[in-house]
Amino acid sequence: MGKKIVGALVVLGVLGGLSAFVYALTNNKMELGYNKGYAPDQPIPFSHELHAGQYQINCKYCHSNAGQSRHATVPSLNICMNCHMVVKTDSPWIQQISEAYNKGESVAWQKVHLLPDHVKFNHSAHILAGKECQTCHGPVEQMPVVYQWSSLSMGWCVNCHRQPENNAPVNCGTCHY
Ligand code: HEC
Ligand code: HEC
Ligand code: HEC
Ligand code: HEC
Ligand code: HEC
Repeated sequence: MGKKIVGALVVLGVLGGLSAFVYALTNNKMELGYNKGYAPDQPIPFSHELHAGQYQINCKYCHSNAGQSRHATVPSLNICMNCHMVVKTDSPWIQQISEAYNKGESVAWQKVHLLPDHVKFNHSAHILAGKECQTCHGPVEQMPVVYQWSSLSMGWCVNCHRQPENNAPVNCGTCHY
């Protein structure tokens, strides 16, 4: 390879690297604190793909609060034991769940979605307005490990509230304390 070509490639490489760097910076800035894609390690490998996908257990069977209150909440172990009292009792994970259940303990599930404290969100308002879980959480029934699918940025909320068919409020006090 001629020196000139190598030189040109180096310059291109540096420019390419630089623009990738600038892109990453601006992109990072836009996503900072929003945790899109966040999937913390869970104490027990619970799979939505298996339960909500393959076995088609309804979201609200486990997240029954979603339609009625501000928080959707994660199910307590008695919901799991409805099946796992008899299903797959030879699994060490299920044995761990049974032991915790028998001792009256709970599983320390790590929160996937974390809105800042100054924001108020209300599940039931959205469910009553006919929004599907998947509109905001993505195809959870295909996720072996559930992750944050939407950005949860203010723009994301406001864009949807602004759609004429939604007729949802956009004044600051709707979403902020
Ligand atoms: C309009 C968007 C939207 C819809 C629709 C929605 N969610 Fe959520 N969900 C969110 C947001 C935003 C959070 C984070 C709330 C927070 O941090 O306070 C969240 C959090 C959660 C949590 C964590 C516990 C909690 O309440 O903070 C669960 C579980 C959950 N959603 C399940 C569901 C299920 C099941 C459905 C359908 C029945 C659903 N969600 C519909 C936006 C939505
Ligand atoms: C409606 C029935 C039902 C409910 C409710 C249920 N499961 Fe399951 N679960 C299953 C079935 C069926 C399997 C697959 C068993 C198999 O592979 O033979 C399974 C598999 C599992 C496994 C994989 C075990 C292994 O070692 O392969 C885990 C972990 C698990 N469930 C955890 C939970 C937890 C935690 C809850 C409560 C939040 C729960 N399940 C609620 C039916 C259920
Ligand atoms: C068999 C019970 C079960 C079913 C059915 C189920 N989930 Fe869950 N879900 C859980 C458990 C347990 C957790 C906490 C562990 C985890 O994050 O994986 C959870 C966590 C979540 C979270 C993350 C909550 C957080 O910490 O922010 C969302 C979002 C969610 N589920 C949505 C759904 C949706 C949408 C469906 C239907 C497609 C569904 N779930 C069906 C048991 C269930
Ligand atoms: C997919 C569209 C959509 C997204 C995304 C969305 N919303 Fe909403 N929101 C609605 C609709 C529709 C209503 C119900 C309007 C009505 O009927 O009053 C609503 C209602 C609300 C309400 C209740 C208003 C009231 O006083 O009754 C709050 C609070 C709210 N949204 C906060 C948020 C926040 C915070 C986010 C982002 C984290 C968000 N929403 C994301 C569509 C959305
Ligand atoms: C539909 C819901 C919604 C409405 C309406 C809304 N916000 Fe927000 N806002 C959010 C959410 C969610 C966040 C957190 C995510 C983020 O920082 O983008 C946020 C964040 C913020 C922040 C913090 C930004 C930062 O960098 O930490 C400020 C300041 C703010 N909003 C001001 C306002 C003002 C002023 C209004 C009225 C003009 C308003 N918001 C209306 C949902 C909303």
